[in-house]
Amino acid sequence: MMRWIVTAAGFALLAAAAHQEAALKDLMPKGMVIGVALNQRQFEGGDAAAGDIITRHFNQISPENVLKPQPTHPAADRYTFDAADRYVQFGVDRRMQVIGHTLVWHSQTGAWVFQGTDGKPADRETLLARMRDHIHTVVGRYKGKIHGWDVVNEAIEEDGSLRKSPWQVGIGDDYIARAFEFAREADPGAELYYNDFNLEMPAKRAGVIKLVRDLQARKVRIDGIGNQAHWRLETPTLEEIDTSLVELHATGLKVMYTELDVNLLPNTPRGADPAVANPYANGLPDDVQRQLARRYADVFRVFLKHRDAVTRVTFWGLSDADSWLNRGRMNYPLLWDRQRQPKPAFAAVVDALRNAR
Ligand code: XIL
Repeated sequence: MMRWIVTAAGFALLAAAAHQEAALKDLMPKGMVIGVALNQRQFEGGDAAAGDIITRHFNQISPENVLKPQPTHPAADRYTFDAADRYVQFGVDRRMQVIGHTLVWHSQTGAWVFQGTDGKPADRETLLARMRDHIHTVVGRYKGKIHGWDVVNEAIEEDGSLRKSPWQVGIGDDYIARAFEFAREADPGAELYYNDFNLEMPAKRAGVIKLVRDLQARKVRIDGIGNQAHWRLETPTLEEIDTSLVELHATGLKVMYTELDVNLLPNTPRGADPAVANPYANGLPDDVQRQLARRYADVFRVFLKHRDAVTRVTFWGLSDADSWLNRGRMNYPLLWDRQRQPKPAFAAVVDALRNAR
């Protein structure tokens, strides 16, 4: 009897160890890489525990912030590449697929970019010249090292129209095509992507597909659509994810999940009762932990069902301690916990990957 108990306990331990053993990248189907967005401490060696997990489990990296316009190009005559160089080197050293994020965006872009003389907004020619200079300099610097670029980020509104970003207002609708052309000139070997969120919403997705079709009709090079995938437990539904994937892929482009995480906290207004806004301040209840695991298994099963369309899945951060979704609260959106231990969601993803093999 005693023997049985020991054996069962031993088996449970072995099973847990087996999950820890499994490297995500070795379980991915052929043609689909698995990645994570890195913060500066992680690629600069200041967080060895994270560095080990990243090296072991992932074959692709994205830069959480260091390759955005503001950090690389803080002033018209000044580029700063120290951090970005180390990010790229981290991936090159480990033979990972290194992604660039992002070149043209309305956010995290120096205010100087959009300013003209006498406090007026910059005119079309000035903006195009700045965009060209930025793209040529940044993409050119990492030519042959960065596999693919999010050339334009978040250019479509929820209703499917073009966002009235300072780029669009200053240059006109063709700013997107121009950005892709500049990127192709700067590194003809790099893949070029359009990246956005909420692509499970039909109106927004239709706007993105229209944009892609328009670029294709004009013979502008574009290789993939990045679906950010900042999701929640219940939304979008699996059906919506599936439908969206199929429609995006029907453009002929690669589909990527570029910023995957699962937000467990409610959308509450500023100043809301902390009991409502921050319900898991003292830990995540077991049942929610299980729901998160099931959610991750479910979405991975959708990706795996469409393995011919999906070329990449990237988590937006490594562990719950690293996630941008905390913002003063306690969130639990990723596969590793704050102590860098794999969560049940990690085991669930491993199982989903194994079962699909
Ligand atoms: C976020 C980073 O995670 C934060 O650290 C930063 O403060 C703001 O930007 N969509 C994107 C990413 O394309 O670049 C954003 O990253 C998250 C939303």
